[in-house]
Order: sequence, then C-alpha cells, then structure tokens
Amino acid sequence: MISAFAPGKCILFGEHAVVFGHPAVAVAVDHGVTVSVSESKDWVLEGKPFLKDRHPHISHILENVFQYDGAPLCIDIESSLFSAAGMGSSAALSNALAAAIQCHLTPDEPLDGVKLARIAHSAEASAQKGRASPTDTATSALGGCIVVSDTRVDGTRHIFDTELDTPEGKRHWSVSAVDIPEDLEQSWLVIGYTGEGSSTGSMVAKVADLVSKNPEKMGDLESIGKITKAGLTALSAGNLEALGMAMDACHHKLQSLEVSSNKLDMLVLAARPHSLGAKLTGAGGGGCMVALTTDPKRTSEAIEVAGGIPMISKLGSEGVRIS
Ligand code: MEV
Repeated sequence: MISAFAPGKCILFGEHAVVFGHPAVAVAVDHGVTVSVSESKDWVLEGKPFLKDRHPHISHILENVFQYDGAPLCIDIESSLFSAAGMGSSAALSNALAAAIQCHLTPDEPLDGVKLARIAHSAEASAQKGRASPTDTATSALGGCIVVSDTRVDGTRHIFDTELDTPEGKRHWSVSAVDIPEDLEQSWLVIGYTGEGSSTGSMVAKVADLVSKNPEKMGDLESIGKITKAGLTALSAGNLEALGMAMDACHHKLQSLEVSSNKLDMLVLAARPHSLGAKLTGAGGGGCMVALTTDPKRTSEAIEVAGGIPMISKLGSEGVRIS
C-alpha cells in the first residue's frame, strides 16, 4: 500500500481577485489529506464501489493525467481538513492522489512539486467548469508560503508559470514562493469553521456574475490586489501588526463582493479583539475565516464561544509527500 499526504491551505490575501489575475498569498497548514492506494480485485473508494462520475478530481487524475490501465485500485482517503470550507481539501486530495499514483506506477521517480501542482490544477479546473486559479493546488504541492499573480511579484522567488482557458478568457499566472521570516514564528493562524459548507465553483461563478452585471465591482478586486501587495510586504518584513491590518482590510473588500456570510462576519468580529487581524478565507459563502494571533488558545476560545469550530496551525507547513 502506498500513502501520500498533502497539506491544506489558508489564503491570507487575494481570494477571488486571483481568478482575475490579481495576486494572492496562501500558506500551507499543518492539517491535510492522506490518500492510500493498493491493488484490489475491484475498484473501491472508501470501502464502496468507485463511481467515477461522482468523483471528477479522481477520475481526471486516473484517466486524463496518468491514463491508468493497471489493476483496479482500492483508494482510501483520510482528511483532517474541514471539507467544502475553503481549506483546499480538493486540491490536497488531488495532490495526494497524484503523488500516490505516481509512486504506485514509478516507485523510483522522485516527487516533483511543480509537476504535481500542474496535475492538481488541471483536476481543479476540470471540476470547476474551467475557473480555478493555481493557488490552492500550488500551495498544497509546494508547501510554505506561495504567491500567485498574473505578473511576477517583486521580492518573491519565481517557481513556475501556468495558464488556463476560462469562460472569461485565457488567464496566465506566475507562481512564486516567499520565505517566512523568523519574526512570524511567534504567531499562529486560528481557522474558524462556520459549520456551513460552500461550493468554490458556485462562489467563483457568483463573483463573475456580480462583476459582469456591476462593472464598478472590478474596483473591489483591484483594491484586494493592492491590499495583497501591502500584506505581502508586511509578511516579508515580519511586521505582524501591518499583516493583521491588511487581513482586516481584505475582509472588508470581500464583504463588498458579497462572498461573506452572517456567520463568517460573526466569527471575524469575535476573533478580532484577541488577534492581530481576521478575515474570511477561501471562497466564502460559508466555510472558514482565519485570524492571525500570538495567543491561539484565547482566539480559539473566542471563535468557539461565537459558534465556530477552531483549528490552530503554524504558517507554512511542508508540501505534498509520501507518508
Ligand atoms: C478558493 O480557495 C480560492 C478562490 O480564489 C478560487 C480560486 O483561486 O480558484 C475563491
């Protein structure tokens, strides 16, 4: 049996705006998805017959990427992420599955983070009607802190470029890494789950619709782009206060794009007095918020009292690996 683990991600800045080419900053978290594969008599997923139409990410990776024609597989998935909650669980699943299948087919070939990031992005795009930035997939594959933008961003280490035909036209992204300074080691992320699931594909489609009907909303996407750059400067300098302020500002613009919810706003407000900054993270509409804090216990308690489910993580865990 082969098992691979891929971390989930937390977007610090730039969700939604990144789909339109603006920059986004995301970190890999300590929690993630483990996929185990072993040969079997029949195709089995999680102890049940594998129905490929119900699992577009898995079918895409097996059929379109690996053109798998070997023995049937028994696939098991274990996740410590909240699912459909903006933590990149489908990106982590795609990365862990692709790593496990590669190791099953060619055990001596070392894992290549960039190759896996591209595979997982193609799986996300095929499952999200062609609208997916490489943010979730690259962060889960490469680990650490990842910046995704349509142009190269100063002060980052360029890793690879990628593009995608979306219903809104061709998009190009540059994927880079940023080293997390030591000053940030005294800080934690507390991710607060609202308990309400949300579909990334429909939230991304909702923003596309909002912007096409109200072109002035493009201004919010541009503001998120500017806040992201300021946040990145603060992060690179290890300036926790400025980093938190930029997170607060980003949440405000996401509210204007109508991707927040009452529960997300409630958890953000509850966390703020005990943190440096707080915002929704990921697609919104439900899912999770995130707070940056030096007192993760206190922040977790505040989120829990407000009805959320907290999860603590350091910033920038390692990327996909055989476990
Ligand atoms: C989802 O985690 C992040 C979004 O920006 C979508 C994407 O980047 O593909 C909402």
